[in-house]
Amino acid sequence: MLNLVLFGPPGAGKGTQSEKLIATYHLVHLSTGDLLRSEIRAGTELGLRAKMLMDQGILVPDEVVIGMIENKLNENQSAAGFIFDGFPRTVPQAEALDQLLAQYNTGITVMVALEVDEEELTKRLLIRGLSSGRPDDQNEDLIRRRVKEYNDKTAPVAGYYESQGKFKAINGIGTIEEIFQAICEKIETA
Ligand code: AP5
Repeated sequence: MLNLVLFGPPGAGKGTQSEKLIATYHLVHLSTGDLLRSEIRAGTELGLRAKMLMDQGILVPDEVVIGMIENKLNENQSAAGFIFDGFPRTVPQAEALDQLLAQYNTGITVMVALEVDEEELTKRLLIRGLSSGRPDDQNEDLIRRRVKEYNDKTAPVAGYYESQGKFKAINGIGTIEEIFQAICEKIETA
C-alpha cells in the first residue's frame, strides 16, 4: 500500500495536489476538513460543534477526527492506499493513525510537506475567500489565527515523521504542475 501524508499550513495546496495525486496513484483521499464540512452541511451534532471551532480557526478535538478517520479506514479496506490531507494535525493524531494502520498491517509510507511562507498563504486564502464562501477564509485575522494554530500545534508533527525517516519537504511555491512533479519524485524515492 502507498499511504501518503500530505502536510503543510492552511493554503499550502494540500487539497489541490491531492486531486492530481488520486488520479495518478488511485488512492483514497481522506481530508478531515472535507469530512467535517460535510458533517456541517448535514447539520449533525458533530458538525454543529465542529463549526464553532472551525469558524474561529481552532482545531477540533483529536478524538473527533480520529473517530472519523477510523470509520473511513474501515469503509475502504480494499483501497490501494490513502492520501491523508489535513490529518494528522497533532502528535496524538499521528500516534493514533499509526495504531489504526497497524491493525491493517500497514503504515505511513512517506510524509511530504509543502513549504509556503505566511504572506503567500494569506494571499491565496484571501483570494479564495472572495469566491468560495468558506467562513474561515473571510478575513486576514482569521487566516493568521489558522496559521498560528498550525505553527503551535501541527508543525511538531513533522518531527514525529522525521524521527521515523519518513519526512520529505518540498517548495510549495511554483506552478501546480511543478509542485505535483516534486511530490511524485518524493513518492517514487520513498
Ligand atoms: P482544512 O479544510 O484541512 O483546511 P486547511 O488546512 O486550513 O487547508 P486549506 O484547505 O485551506 O488549504 P490546502 O493546503 O488544502 O490548500 P488548497 O489546495 O485548498 O481544515 C479546516 C479546519 O477544519 C481547521 O482549521 C480545523 O478547525 C478543522 N480540522 C481539519 N482537520 C483537522 C484535524 N485533523 N484536527 C483538528 N481539526 C481539524 O489551496 C488553497 C488555495 O490556494 C486555493 O484557492 C488554490 O487554488 C490555491 N493554490 C493551490 N496551489 C497553488 C499554487 N501552487 N500557486 C498558487 N495558488 C495555489
